[in-house]
Order: sequence, then C-alpha cells, then structure tokens
Amino acid sequence: MILERRDWVLWAISSVIWRLPGKVPSKLAGFSHTEFGSALDMLAAVLETPRREMRARYFRHALDELKHAAMFRRRSLAYAGERVKRTQAMLDDSNFIREHGINDADSLFSKSEEVEFLAFVWIAERRAAQQFDVYADLLKNDEDTQDMFAEIAKDERFHISYSRYELDRYEAKGKAEEVKDAVDRIRRRRFLEAWLRFSVVLGDFMSNLWLGILYVLVIAPSSVLAKLTEKRSRGFVRPDDEWDEPLFERAQMQA
Ligand SMILES: [Fe+2]
Ligand SMILES: [Fe+2]
Repeated sequence: MILERRDWVLWAISSVIWRLPGKVPSKLAGFSHTEFGSALDMLAAVLETPRREMRARYFRHALDELKHAAMFRRRSLAYAGERVKRTQAMLDDSNFIREHGINDADSLFSKSEEVEFLAFVWIAERRAAQQFDVYADLLKNDEDTQDMFAEIAKDERFHISYSRYELDRYEAKGKAEEVKDAVDRIRRRRFLEAWLRFSVVLGDFMSNLWLGILYVLVIAPSSVLAKLTEKRSRGFVRPDDEWDEPLFERAQMQA
C-alpha cells in the first residue's frame, strides 16, 4: 500500500468490472492517455510559472508522467491478447485520447493561481496513488505489472510530497486561508466531476434497462402476435410459375 488507506469501495467495484472481457487493456490504455494529459499540463506549468525555482520540479514531474504513459501503453498491449488491434486503435484514437486525457485547449495552470494548481496536484496525486494501489492488487499475479505499479508509486510519492511541501510553504508565509480555500475548491470541483461522470454512467445504464424492458414486454409480444394473426397480403404478389418470365420479354411478345 502506498501512503493512503486502501479504497475498499473502489476495490470491490473494480474487482467486478476488471473481470469483464477486454476491460483490463482498455483501462490501461485510458490510464496511458490520462498520464500523457498530466505530462502536458506539467510542461505547460514549466512554461507558465512565474516562480523560476519550480520549473525543475514541474519538468521532472512531466517526465515522470510521460514515462507512466509509455508504461501503461506497453502493459495495455501486453494484456490485449486477441484484442491487440482494438487496443492499438484505442491507444491511437483521437476521441478516446480526448475523453481520457487533456480535453481543454487551455492548460490547467493558466486557469488558476499557482496555489490552486499545487492543491490540485496534491489532491489528484494522492487519489491516483490510492487508485493504483487497488489496481496493483487486482493484477497482483502479473510480475511485470507489479514492477510497473511499484515504480509509479515511487514517482507518485515525489509528486505528493513536493506539492504538499509547497502548500506548507504558502501556509508558513501566512497564506493558510488561501491554501485551505484552494484545497476546498478543488475537492468540491472533483466531487462534482465525479458526480457528473457517475450520472452519465447511470443514465446509460437506465436507458439500456428501460429499452430492454420495453423490448421484452411490448415489442417481442407484438411481433409474435403479428406473426400469429398474419393474413395473406393483398398487395404485390409473386406471379405463378407460368408467368414467371422476364417482364421485358413478355412486353416484346405483346407488342
Ligand atoms: Fe503518473
Ligand atoms: Fe503523478
């Protein structure tokens, strides 16, 4: 376990979902894009921060995230088996990348003050460490995947500790209230985003459920009833065999 208490709710849900066919490679492909998106955000922070002393940390952080993206990509393909083409397509699909990685034209750094950016990094990295702890446990039979998660956990410790250290420095400079507000704002925003994601999944599930019920209770019985009560058609009918010759020839004969 890395730094955080294990999230047993996530573990219970994931231990069901990750058993679905094709789920492991698609999840790992999604993580690869998320990590790549984080790397782009950190590179933007290198360029945009007014604090020169932070550049080296943000840059190291960006390199770590790029490394994680490549690692998840490799493991995703390793788990793909017969679905290798589909997984490869997922890794290269621009829509999939937009859904799982960066989907905003503006960088995260440019949308807030640096203290809020650091609060985001601190909270998001702690959550990522907690999630990877669960996923590492679910894939514990695979040694290569264990090695990958162990290396990622080591990097995440650095990301969590430097962002917390910087927040502590803000607090020490008398900006404790600012830090608290930033942390609260990020927590509220992440909760709202998680709620919206859950609503989309729930909406999909409910619409599929209602369509299924409609099919079983209305459409299927109506189709059976229609077959049973079917009458001979009064519209176009197939001609008898004696008339079964090409229309063109018949028309020529009549002319
Ligand atoms: Fe990462
Ligand atoms: Fe990270």
